[in-house]
Amino acid sequence: DKGGYPHFMLKEINEQGAVLRRSMLDRIFHGEVDLSRELSWSSESAKRIKRLHLVACGTSYYAALVAERLIERFSDLDIRVDIASEYRYRDIPIGNDTLAVFVTQSGETLDTLAAERFAKEKGARCMAITNNGLSTVAREVDDVLSLKAGPEIGVAATKTFMGQMTVLYLMGLYLLKLREELSLGDEMRLVREMEVLPYKVESLIDRADEIKAIASRYCEARDFLFLGRGFSFPIAMEGALKLKEISYIHAEAYAAGEMKHGPIALLDRSVPVVVVMPDDNLFEKTLSNVQETKARNSPVIAIATEGRKSILGQAEDVMWVPKTDMELNPFLAVIPLQIFAYYVALAKGKEIDQPRNLAKSVTVE
Ligand code: F6R
Repeated sequence: DKGGYPHFMLKEINEQGAVLRRSMLDRIFHGEVDLSRELSWSSESAKRIKRLHLVACGTSYYAALVAERLIERFSDLDIRVDIASEYRYRDIPIGNDTLAVFVTQSGETLDTLAAERFAKEKGARCMAITNNGLSTVAREVDDVLSLKAGPEIGVAATKTFMGQMTVLYLMGLYLLKLREELSLGDEMRLVREMEVLPYKVESLIDRADEIKAIASRYCEARDFLFLGRGFSFPIAMEGALKLKEISYIHAEAYAAGEMKHGPIALLDRSVPVVVVMPDDNLFEKTLSNVQETKARNSPVIAIATEGRKSILGQAEDVMWVPKTDMELNPFLAVIPLQIFAYYVALAKGKEIDQPRNLAKSVTVE
């Protein structure tokens, strides 16, 4: 049931405030994360972990990349994030000092399942973050955290990405806390701001018409570049993936600093560049990439924090996002990109909920 929406994807985009609330429910108490009802971790077992591996495919992989950036800010864990189909064919040190977290919406992705079996074989403690607690991956691991996002019907993942980032953040904060690597001040600052995110997400969704208008101006483009640094790099990748999946437009994402090492050769007035640049410690660096882009005549579509008026003279179009803490920008910056991909695909008359060649869960290698 599409609940009155023309597509499941739009319905699911609209559910993201609720998904955030549900994913945090019974996991936060008085401003502190507590997952002891769901995980049997102790402070001792958490401190014995030396390596943290986050393993996933597609959109789930991008959620893992966002979480890596949070956890590494506070921890001396050896963290790596891998694409599941690569992880198991490499010679990576894995042992009983390794916590391997498999992020999979469906819990049935064969690449992720095979990676989980590989890590388990090598003695890692395995955990699943999934929207299906009854799935194959969930049944095989030591620990499970559910997204509680509700069924996602649209092939393009939207609300489950939001749920994955939320649960990965809670898992990361809880792990850091047990390891005594996170101060109460940082924990309470992040948790308090996470609790406000649903309202900010909803305020963004209420302004979808602004994004629709921007989408109508760019839907004829054949190629797009997406750029971002730090927390915004995985969001640039997710924005490009959403666009290519449902509109079939070629879209590539780069770390903004990499543009001058090759992709800048592609730029001209026919290639719009989406720059994910909400306020953070790297804003000025990304701004210099915007200037390089403009010098090649490519139109810039910026995702920027409300109030950053200086961007108006630099970008053709701006998708505004509310202010939040640097670590939480991804939760807001992804929303306009989902809406943008939706309206570009709609303008092109594509099959939004069931794009060609794609299946909701990929059970072949
Ligand atoms: C993107 C998308 C895919 C999945 C990927 C992993 O919109 O849906 O890239 O994210 O196939 O699927 P799960 O999370 O079920 O393992």
